Amino acid sequence: MNDPIIVVENVSKIYRLGAVSVPALFEVTLEIASGEMVCIMGKSGSGKSTLLRQLSLIDRPSAGRILLHGQEVTHLAERHRTLLRLSSLGYVFQEYALIPELTAWENVFLPAMMLGEARAAAYRRRAHDLLEQVGLGERARHRPRELSGGEQQRVAIARALINSPTIVFADEPTANLDSIAGATVMQTLTRLNRDTGVTIVFVSHDPDDGAYASRLVHLGDGRLIDLGPAADTPAADTPAADTPAADTPAAGGAS
Ligand SMILES: Nc1ncnc2c1ncn2[C@@H]1O[C@H](COP(=O)(O)OP(=O)(O)OP(=O)(O)O)[C@@H](O)[C@H]1O
Ligand SMILES: [Mg+2]
Repeated sequence: MNDPIIVVENVSKIYRLGAVSVPALFEVTLEIASGEMVCIMGKSGSGKSTLLRQLSLIDRPSAGRILLHGQEVTHLAERHRTLLRLSSLGYVFQEYALIPELTAWENVFLPAMMLGEARAAAYRRRAHDLLEQVGLGERARHRPRELSGGEQQRVAIARALINSPTIVFADEPTANLDSIAGATVMQTLTRLNRDTGVTIVFVSHDPDDGAYASRLVHLGDGRLIDLGPAADTPAADTPAADTPAADTPAAGGAS
């Protein structure tokens, strides 16, 4: 096993809303090795999104600690966490979260601009390369409304990769998609994991998605209930290894 890139030690999260406390995670302890593709599964309300938010530095645990790349991040100043998030982590949302006024290409390089303009030309080229990698090279100038849900999610994956993150997090990336578009998104993530070694941690309800993971982590009522291995070989990633664009309609002219 490679060195752990994510270490979670006794992490608990209690949401406090005025006088009301909502416990969401209880003493979760977990290690994820560099290069793994881990699927977090569990019923609605089991704490999957909460765990992902703690790992991806969107939120802070109530107790316990998290190390990323061996660095304790739980108590880092917000400024450092933001910089770390921008430079080392990618995030894919269930509802894509693309900016509707921007083209696919502009959406992809936007996070790079937030790290500074100095390498703008390189970012723009890289954004094109990433759109090619997710099978959308011909759609670079299309706006989100001109793309299918699966295509929008692949733009969001390209965007998550623009700053060459070491870890990509995805919260139910296929939940808004039909099964074919969902499979294409999972195949895209699997291929990126295999070809670039990027660590991927994703959440899903869907056992079909779990089949793409190298390991499943089950949550129940905020507790880890199983760390058993998934199938040795991800079964479902083979058909689209080189053709991630199965749900891409024949590309029309750029708008
Ligand atoms: N911001 C919040 N404030 C208060 N309670 C919250 C907040 N976010 C989540 N919770 C509660 O924490 C628990 C875990 O929620 P979480 O969103 O992590 O579950 P989930 O497993 O992702 O569920 P789903 O599959 O429905 O997305 C739930 O009881 C939820 O109501
Ligand atoms: Mg959730």
